[in-house]
Amino acid sequence: MSAAQSQSSATQRSFAEKLDLADPLAHYKDQFVITDPNLCYLDGNSLGRLPKKTVEVINHFLLNEWGPELVDGWSHWIDQAQPAGNLLAKSVLGTTDGQTLVCDTTSVNFYQLCMAALKARPGRKTVIIDSANFPTDRYILAGIAEQLGLNLITLNNDGLGGPGAVDVEHDCELISPQELEKHLTSDVAFVTLQAIQYRSGGRPDIKGITDVARKHGALVIWDCSHAAGAIDLQFDANGVDLAVGCTYKYGNSGPGSPGWMFIRKELQDQLRIPIQGWFSNDRQFEMGPFYEKAEGIRGFQIASPSIIGIRGVEVAFEMIAEAGIARIQDKAAKGTDLMIELFDAWLAPLGFTLGTPRDSKKRGGHIIVIHQDAKQIAVALRKLKNVIPDYREPGAIRLAISPLATSYTEVFDGFERLRDLVASGDYKNVQLDGNRVT
Ligand SMILES: Cc1ncc(COP(=O)(O)O)c(C=O)c1O
Repeated sequence: MSAAQSQSSATQRSFAEKLDLADPLAHYKDQFVITDPNLCYLDGNSLGRLPKKTVEVINHFLLNEWGPELVDGWSHWIDQAQPAGNLLAKSVLGTTDGQTLVCDTTSVNFYQLCMAALKARPGRKTVIIDSANFPTDRYILAGIAEQLGLNLITLNNDGLGGPGAVDVEHDCELISPQELEKHLTSDVAFVTLQAIQYRSGGRPDIKGITDVARKHGALVIWDCSHAAGAIDLQFDANGVDLAVGCTYKYGNSGPGSPGWMFIRKELQDQLRIPIQGWFSNDRQFEMGPFYEKAEGIRGFQIASPSIIGIRGVEVAFEMIAEAGIARIQDKAAKGTDLMIELFDAWLAPLGFTLGTPRDSKKRGGHIIVIHQDAKQIAVALRKLKNVIPDYREPGAIRLAISPLATSYTEVFDGFERLRDLVASGDYKNVQLDGNRVT
């Protein structure tokens, strides 16, 4: 099919309907709570939809575990961060048991791994991040660098700079291993990047970057928040050593659901986390005067896990395991292909530019479209068109397909409404609502 033909067919709703009919994951949409069937929810990369089964499972937990078991429940809840981690490892990380914990928040886990990685590279005083990294990672690392007198290098891949900013070549925020290597010296303790860029949606060469850092003796901490549940991360094949992420985006585990952290088995003896909570103490219930790190992945858990949170994680990641991450990745690629075809046909002529790679192997489940009035357009989409995207500075509207919960027609309808909103100019009459959350 020529590009022109495929473009013209993508602009017909029947094209998206055919994709839905052929979609092996289509039936999963029914497994989510959908209160407004006319809503185009294109923000599942920020907060995933609620699985119906979560309501049942959490109710069951309240009524049949917490209610009757009371404190005795801890005898079987105590280590549940580990099996939940194993489920995540198997369903989305492409790795084996005993290396992942479902616990705390991405931010806390990121801090823990940064400090542990520094300690594992004594004498090295340089750390590297990119300016397009998620704010929490940048701010936490800047705080650590300031506190410990480290040399922080910020690879300037979005023009916004940051502490120790250096210019780099990039494509939609993506930095190549060769470009990174220019900054790798024997003083670099670790590099931290995202497996999917939170803004552009770009997907870096995880293996190439991990390999080149390793060649220079540096560790890499991957933030997989926008990747877990959208792409096949293949931690074993890619040689990933350290990673963190959340479960509330493509993981559909609920607002503020627990984060996760991954520490490759071979590194677990060398690494020590700074927050030596009682859960990581070898003889936890002896409550003795001295701390001794427990062996294995338990040595990285700070404190009591949220059991309600873990129940939500279990439901969602069992669903992902059943659907298969390869099929999920395939739908993310096809859904974002559809978005880009609609962008070319409808949005580019209205003054939008695309901020996401066109090659589906270089992106995840979301794209960004950039426009000078993007913030107002994003608010108007909600208010006038019943479409939920989100807005990210500077000037970007993020639009996602969450493969289990979003249909191709939902994507099509959302884009058609976006086109109509901007073509009519109606968005200009909508006031910014002053909401702190964009
Ligand atoms: C890439 C990335 N890292 C970290 C975070 C922060 O997560 P939390 O607030 O759960 O610590 C987010 C939140 O959206 C994120 O997108």
